[in-house]
Amino acid sequence: EKTIGILTGGGDCPGLNAVIRAVVRKGITAYRYRFRGILKGWKGMMECDWEPLGLEEISGILPKGGTILGTSRTNPFKEEDGGEIVVDNMRRMKLDALVAIGGEDTLGVANKLASMSVPIVGVPKTIDNDLNGTDYTFGFDTAVNIVTEAIDRIHTTAESHNRVMVIEVMGRHSGWIALHAGLAGGADMILIPEQKYTIQEIVSTIRKRHERGKDFSIVVVAEGAQLVSEEGEAVEEGTSYETRVTVLGHLQRGGTPTAFDRVLGTRFGIAAIDLVHAGDFGKMVSLQGNEIVAIPLAEAVNQLKLVDQELYDLATVFFG
Ligand code: F6P
Repeated sequence: EKTIGILTGGGDCPGLNAVIRAVVRKGITAYRYRFRGILKGWKGMMECDWEPLGLEEISGILPKGGTILGTSRTNPFKEEDGGEIVVDNMRRMKLDALVAIGGEDTLGVANKLASMSVPIVGVPKTIDNDLNGTDYTFGFDTAVNIVTEAIDRIHTTAESHNRVMVIEVMGRHSGWIALHAGLAGGADMILIPEQKYTIQEIVSTIRKRHERGKDFSIVVVAEGAQLVSEEGEAVEEGTSYETRVTVLGHLQRGGTPTAFDRVLGTRFGIAAIDLVHAGDFGKMVSLQGNEIVAIPLAEAVNQLKLVDQELYDLATVFFG
């Protein structure tokens, strides 16, 4: 009987539990594996902190946000001999293979461990959708839906008070959430890290809009784009329109995953445990078109996936 470890690393994300459930469910029922849930990501691998994971533990977790295994931003390779400690602990915990679910940092660790011959499979996760090698990550659709609803609600105040409403959304390195939710919510301007803006451009876009009779505006800003509080002030100063800033923050990562993210997480989980069974290690499962495929972990972590420029250009039709 083989023993498989499973961990979740980095920021929590709706859909993590769907992946855990699928991996464990198929692993037990189809392959007769035994599972050890490694607690708090790589921290648990460094400290041999784990709990048994059986059918009972995964029951009822599909609609739950967050991760039943806990998570952390611990990176073993930032600690002395961290890689070697993880390799030793694989033996100590009697793990025959490891499934690591996480974003760029977590999968970067997985990639380095794979090059040290650790039998490991990765599952891509980030609400930001900026992981290379996969068309979508689970969590993104949930975040986009939450932000879209927030934009709809904020429209109410924008229209009633004739205000400029600036909405800051997550995305340190990329503007995927801002772009998709901004399009879905009918934003009048979308600011993303991939693009450079002057305050003057922002001010004149809003002015133009007001001059054509629209006395409110919605500006969606990815957190990586610029400093929003400054933006708010600059917009107010430059336009003399009353401006408010709303920072959506961790609201975007909380709560139950959408149906899309549950299905994607489930498909990723099944594909990941199939890779383990096939002994096809050093790979990450990925969505390409409608297919789930396996790509080398190295491909996923060598660069970020920035927003689709064509889609951004399309969105600019609705600016101002
Ligand atoms: O990568 C996901 C993400 O939510 C980013 O959008 C955001 O910049 C970051 O994590 C926030 O991290 P933390 O929860 O550690 O503050």
